[in-house]
Amino acid sequence: MKLGVNIDHIAVLREARKIADPNPMDALSIVKRAGAEQITIHLREDRRHIQDSDAKNIIYHSSLPVNLECAIAKEIVTLACELKPHRVTLVPEKREEVTTEGGLDIFRYEEELKEVIAKFHKYEIEVSLFIDPTLKAVEMAHKLGVEWIEFHTGKYANVYAMLFSNLGNTHHSIKELELPRSELKEMLEEELTKLRALSCDAMELGFQVAAGHGLNYQNVGAIAEIETIEELNIGQSIIARSVFTGLEDAILEMKALLIR
Ligand code: PXP
Repeated sequence: MKLGVNIDHIAVLREARKIADPNPMDALSIVKRAGAEQITIHLREDRRHIQDSDAKNIIYHSSLPVNLECAIAKEIVTLACELKPHRVTLVPEKREEVTTEGGLDIFRYEEELKEVIAKFHKYEIEVSLFIDPTLKAVEMAHKLGVEWIEFHTGKYANVYAMLFSNLGNTHHSIKELELPRSELKEMLEEELTKLRALSCDAMELGFQVAAGHGLNYQNVGAIAEIETIEELNIGQSIIARSVFTGLEDAILEMKALLIR
């Protein structure tokens, strides 16, 4: 299974001080040396971490394919077309959110998406849609004619963290907090069953399938076993571990968990 390392959080640390260090560019050779297959970055509208110059330098200099996550806002789409990453992943974006909290509502934005996808295709950029794992969303993505879909694994990750709550990785606002253990176990199995079935359906429809959000060293195993998921994009947990182990070891450890 391929690994895309989301390096935004290196820029989060830098932006906390508004200085030059740490520079996400320095991660490129390390990510490659550690055996990951892709660099993933998110150019947010509020530029809270990755800046335009980062995106430009990373896309220009990376010897690994770059997956640029972005919203369907006009300014960002225009910039992404100029930057020409290997792939764009279209994600929802709310300024007040801490992180991308769910998949893109591809029903609400159907018309805008048609236009944006056509534009990216004109620039020969592959398109992925970050969607919640539902059959309706897979079918709509098929109608929209993209190459990739990425399933949002946030719910799986939240339920997992609640079941094994000593991990403390859940966001405090999630409603699963008060549920009994038996119910959480069922929910976890439900999420996995859904991801297995939908990734299989998606593959049969001709998609390449990725997944991501909230995946970490504890919860990634069951997702890694799903053979129809080709790639995982992981950021927070890898960068968090790298503070203690260094980036290369953090990626090597994650890669080892992805070997099926
Ligand atoms: N995939 C997509 C589309 C994302 O937007 C993100 C960041 O929210 C990730 C993967 C990585 O998530 P995390 O940082 O929780 O590993």
